[in-house]
Amino acid sequence: MAAGEPRQRLKVVVTRKLPDAVEDRMKELFDVQFNLSDQPMTKEQLVAAMRDADVLVPTLTDTIDQSVLSTAGEKVKLIANFGAGFDHIDLETARQRGILVSNTPGVLTEDTADMTMALILAVPRRIAAGMKVLESGEWQGWSPMAQLGHRITGKRLGIIGMGRIGQAVARRAQAFGLQIHYHNRKRLRPEIEDKFGATYWESLDQMLARMDIVSVNCPHTPATYHLLSARRLKLMKPTAYLVNTARGEVIDENALARMLSNGELAGAGLDVFEHGSVINPKLKELDNVVLLPHMGSATIESRIEMGEKVIINIKTFADGHTPPDRVLPSML
Ligand code: DGY
Repeated sequence: MAAGEPRQRLKVVVTRKLPDAVEDRMKELFDVQFNLSDQPMTKEQLVAAMRDADVLVPTLTDTIDQSVLSTAGEKVKLIANFGAGFDHIDLETARQRGILVSNTPGVLTEDTADMTMALILAVPRRIAAGMKVLESGEWQGWSPMAQLGHRITGKRLGIIGMGRIGQAVARRAQAFGLQIHYHNRKRLRPEIEDKFGATYWESLDQMLARMDIVSVNCPHTPATYHLLSARRLKLMKPTAYLVNTARGEVIDENALARMLSNGELAGAGLDVFEHGSVINPKLKELDNVVLLPHMGSATIESRIEMGEKVIINIKTFADGHTPPDRVLPSML
């Protein structure tokens, strides 16, 4: 390129509809193609997009596995994921093909922790069941024995995955009088444990057996797939509740559904499911569950900040530097 000649704008393909403010800024900076239909792309569309683009901006609804990456051609150099989780991207194959991957950590922490807390409250306090009674038109007024749930204060909360989101959950839960326990790959520094009054359990099995409420806040990786297997779920107390706002694959959903319907667990609050939007039909029939359509981080503020992170990652890459939120296979 001759000196003074304007640099060619990067071709960026975005796979889903993003907030207008984000799309407008992208249009100013890049040669960008949006997905106006907002339908998740098929595998063929994804491959075609990657052949055509310097940068792909996918979301968790795009599976970018080895077969997609190996037919994607040579052009694409950055996958700037719109989202914190990256279990839908084969990082190792991307690395082998010289494709950088970035994500959007941090900006959805508080919103996801709020939703986790909402489920921690909603299931033992039977909020969904109460709403149903009212909606059915059958409510006859207050009665001492109606709608009885269980107290939150004083109960033991076991957090699986004490990263950013796990700690944000702990902060909230502490304010509700819950005792904080956690299991994590690495034990936290003593000053962080002290801040939450948190008890570390090296053994997940031992923690599960003693908790009243368990919250899943770890990423889905090969090591955490079915971390809550049928065997581990059986270790939980029959009076315990399980909440998951992380990834469905961490729990054996069939085993969970079975245990909930047999009364072997008291209830569950699930924002994520093992097979995406395909939910085990048994779960939908139960009244001791609260099921949400993966909306833990669904605030307009978080979506805009996620978009800003994507833009910074692409812009930094375009300027010849490593994107600040680069994800590496070693992070799995
Ligand atoms: C993410 O960014 O991975 C979240 O799950 C989206 O809600």
